[in-house]
Amino acid sequence: MHYLTDQVVKLDILSVRNLKKHFGGVKAVDGCSLKIDAGTVVGLIGPNGAGKTTMFKLISGFEGGSGEIMFKGRRIDKLPPFKIARCGMVRTFQIPHALTKMTVLENLMLAPNIQCGEQIWNIWLRRKKIKEQEKLIKDKSQKILEFFEILHLEDEYAGALSGGQKKLLEMARAMMIDPSLMMLDEPFAGVNPTLARKISGYIEELRESGMTFLIIEHDIPAITKISDKIIVMNEGKIMAEGVPEEIKQRQDVLDVYLGGEG
Ligand SMILES: Nc1ncnc2c1ncn2[C@@H]1O[C@H](COP(=O)(O)OP(=O)(O)OP(=O)(O)O)[C@@H](O)[C@H]1O
Ligand SMILES: [Mg+2]
Repeated sequence: MHYLTDQVVKLDILSVRNLKKHFGGVKAVDGCSLKIDAGTVVGLIGPNGAGKTTMFKLISGFEGGSGEIMFKGRRIDKLPPFKIARCGMVRTFQIPHALTKMTVLENLMLAPNIQCGEQIWNIWLRRKKIKEQEKLIKDKSQKILEFFEILHLEDEYAGALSGGQKKLLEMARAMMIDPSLMMLDEPFAGVNPTLARKISGYIEELRESGMTFLIIEHDIPAITKISDKIIVMNEGKIMAEGVPEEIKQRQDVLDVYLGGEG
């Protein structure tokens, strides 16, 4: 007898309840709740100052606030960022964070990685193990650079890259922890249209391999094209949520954008 069915059971990878962060009188995030299904791309949009980056900081542990955050069934809202990263969540920054005086390859090799924690007391064995591990990390870094088509830049200083290439480097670094959820803060900002299309392609390819994305973006055509769901924030609150076609037609969403940008 078959107990398994063809029905796909969608699991939330991330679930946030009543998240709040106030800076003095500014209610940056003001009681937000959301759920993200595993293996989907979710766009987070809203005018400047809506609270999107603050939401990312709260979810990834870079900022403390109140509310409940569950990631892969585990409560993470009291954990420090490195522990959250170890669970498989990673975020990139609105302003790229690459170490400019290091090469592209070094940036990846020095990114947080899942190291083998084995204790080896024999010094020779240990040296051998470290060498082996370094090789593994180098191979992995180069594979990731190849995926993002920037392997030819491996020996360039990160500081010498263009804005768009820095965005790719950020994503490549983020891949080093084998994330299950990647949160991108404006991946298309300051990126030329050709590279923006490539970035969309990488996101789609990674999603097909099972990764989940939460993406803040002001480029509405680009984000609606790749998202399964769009969440709209305004003044610290979630004002709308739905499939892109629905959100694009909502007058209140258009009004907020027009109002916010004068
Ligand atoms: N560290 C902070 N101290 C004080 N106020 C802050 C701080 N960080 C954010 N804010 C305020 O919180 C509000 C939300 O900011 P946030 O950066 O989250 O917006 P955003 O949606 O990411 O905007 P943008 O699209 O411009 O990046 C803004 O009013 C901002 O000025
Ligand atoms: Mg922001």
